[in-house]
Amino acid sequence: MTPEALKQYADDALATLEACAAPDTLEAWRLAHLGPKGRLREIETNFRSLPKEQKAAIGAALNQAKKAVEEAFASKKASVGAGGPDAEAIDVTEPGVVETHALGRRHVLMRVREELVEVFARMGFTVADGPELEDDDHNFVKLNIPDGHPARDPIDNFYVDDPRTAARPRMMRSQTSTVQVRVMEDAVRRGGGRLREPIRIVAPGRVYRPDTVDATHSFMFHQLEGLYIDRGVTLVDLKTTLLQFAKAYFGPEADVRLRPSFFPFTEPSAELDMKIRLRPDQPVRWMELGGCGMVDPAVLTMCGIDPEEWTGFAFGFGIERLAMGKYAVPDIRLLFGNDLRFLESI
Ligand code: DAH
Repeated sequence: MTPEALKQYADDALATLEACAAPDTLEAWRLAHLGPKGRLREIETNFRSLPKEQKAAIGAALNQAKKAVEEAFASKKASVGAGGPDAEAIDVTEPGVVETHALGRRHVLMRVREELVEVFARMGFTVADGPELEDDDHNFVKLNIPDGHPARDPIDNFYVDDPRTAARPRMMRSQTSTVQVRVMEDAVRRGGGRLREPIRIVAPGRVYRPDTVDATHSFMFHQLEGLYIDRGVTLVDLKTTLLQFAKAYFGPEADVRLRPSFFPFTEPSAELDMKIRLRPDQPVRWMELGGCGMVDPAVLTMCGIDPEEWTGFAFGFGIERLAMGKYAVPDIRLLFGNDLRFLESI
């Protein structure tokens, strides 16, 4: 081992290093020279076994060769990359890959829900909300549906508690009419035990019924509930409001028809039909949209409102039916399936 040989070794190592252009050849070079069994380690081991006088003569040359090789490797590594996934050199001046991302949009049901709320908002209705996990007090009792009423049958409702044993069994609400009760109770609470100002709300939301799923039935669907309570509200106000809504949402040729019916919480009650053209390619026709009526005095009383002072109307309709008609959706399951081919087509 001589200083000249060491210098020669370093020069050769640097020359072969220069030729390394890819991470894997660089790594092979590193193992050959700087690895635990590499050439440089070997030289160092040999150096350690030299007699003292010789060490003094070539120590400096060894250090110099080692330093040259290690520094050259470090700078080469920085330019070639360390290997691994980001090892490729990046040319930042290259134009980027142009990716176009499909624009998302609101789900058709949410669109219809928003449109409905918007039309009623223009008529002074604000939006109210209530829990989907309800108790039978709000889903039934205060809507004038007493114990033993057939609408309470467990076969028609998603009870969470056993209705035979629980005092106030909880359930997934079967109708958004529950929100009527909650809004009236809140208003009376805020009024310190009595209603002090009119109520005018719509409540869109999910409802749950154990129906067998088919093209027109689902165990979960959406309703839009409306409630207006004031002094001297009559059936004329109900029909006028619904007619105004129909014309605003479906156009001037729309009409409204109320057919006598029965709901426990309204008296009188009616089925609500609207004469509408759902799509430009279709004729105007009557469509059954929901129910409505004058709020039953018994309901007002149970919610703490004096029926001698206040009267009101309520209505509720299904959002899916409307959306399916308007957008020609043939099967309700498409609305809940999240199939992009459907969602992008609508
Ligand atoms: N809650 C009724 C249902 O789910 C619909 C309904 C009828 C709501 C009459 C009302 C109403 O507010 O007045 O079938």
